[in-house]
Amino acid sequence: MRIRPSLLARTLLGSALLAAAAAPASAQDKIKVGFMLPYTGTFAALGTAIENGFRQYIDEQGGKLAGKTVEFVKVDDESDPAKASDNANKLVKRDNVDVMIGTVHSGVAMAMAKVAKDNNTLLIVPNAGADAITGPLCAPNIFRSSFSNWQPGFAMGKVAADRKIKTAVTLTWKYAAGDESVRGFKEGFETGGGKVVKELNLPFPNVEFQALLTEVAALKPDAVYVFFAGGGAVKFVKDWAAAGLGSSVKLIGAGFLTDGTLEAQGAAAQGLLTTLHYADDLTNPKDKAFRLQYAKAYKLQPDVYAVQGYDAAQMLAAGVNAVKGDMKQRDALVKAIESAKIDSPRGAFTLSRAHNPVQDIYLREVSGKVNKNVGIAVKGLADPARGCRL
Ligand code: PHB
Repeated sequence: MRIRPSLLARTLLGSALLAAAAAPASAQDKIKVGFMLPYTGTFAALGTAIENGFRQYIDEQGGKLAGKTVEFVKVDDESDPAKASDNANKLVKRDNVDVMIGTVHSGVAMAMAKVAKDNNTLLIVPNAGADAITGPLCAPNIFRSSFSNWQPGFAMGKVAADRKIKTAVTLTWKYAAGDESVRGFKEGFETGGGKVVKELNLPFPNVEFQALLTEVAALKPDAVYVFFAGGGAVKFVKDWAAAGLGSSVKLIGAGFLTDGTLEAQGAAAQGLLTTLHYADDLTNPKDKAFRLQYAKAYKLQPDVYAVQGYDAAQMLAAGVNAVKGDMKQRDALVKAIESAKIDSPRGAFTLSRAHNPVQDIYLREVSGKVNKNVGIAVKGLADPARGCRL
């Protein structure tokens, strides 16, 4: 049968359109980034800071990577692990993103990692420290621009032991991040001769701290090590100050306790000691430029979350530039990120075999509205990546 040219042309055009719609964004002239972050709840400000930081880097590149326009879609994950797989699947299957950027909450991020693995979608985690992501769940397509929960915890444990603190109580939300942060602290602290005498916790994201503070008062440890972040950290530090425990018990924590929160915590946070891979008064030129531009663009001071977002974009750029924007060259793209030296505002870092930053952990002391760097707690700390086979 003879097909009339006009029909043939229409059929060909029709299939071309269909193919274009179904093709990954990488076959087109753009790179599609899917943010899966908390925009509501106790971690809402953290999600926004990550997105701001990421966009800042892309804006500095004129909105393009390797000549391709970067396009964004976003989903609010609400820090809810029960909705995490569905949310991640939407980005992968409905929106057909080239890369997922997410998230803050460890439980949600572990579900994202599983979706990324099942679909071989590129994932860069810009916060969540779940040890498993660069442990048993590690994969060629999964990277992290932030930290493992073990890292700041271990460093604080070492500092506490060095400062001759003998006994500590730990206090945190009961979920992967809290548990793992405490495990890191305990390892550093007890290896150095300290003793964790009690591990207290409450469900995420509860902020009813009173009964736990009463228990701390009765236990009379030298120190309390906590993991809290975002809105919960603001409330905890204020409740701690109001309880008046600070004169007899030293409050220490992973640096999230005082990061992005000082405006709201005010006087209650003064003098607190924490450990983190960032501080607010670093002197490297990259950080100076980053902070200036962030304040100008967002009328806000940046925090560790903004840095992690910025660096997630830098890691993506390292991969995309190496393959000149051809996202199908996945192996070459992965190799380029693996071997990149990221010029981060925190100080340059490289990635471990498991794709987690190998980085200096700073000891910081709150002074006014600033987490002041008072020295490096552990230099070039690599997560042990237990259970990762890559
Ligand atoms: C986490 O769930 O891994 C988490 C959340 C907030 C932080 C740090 C870690 O600030």
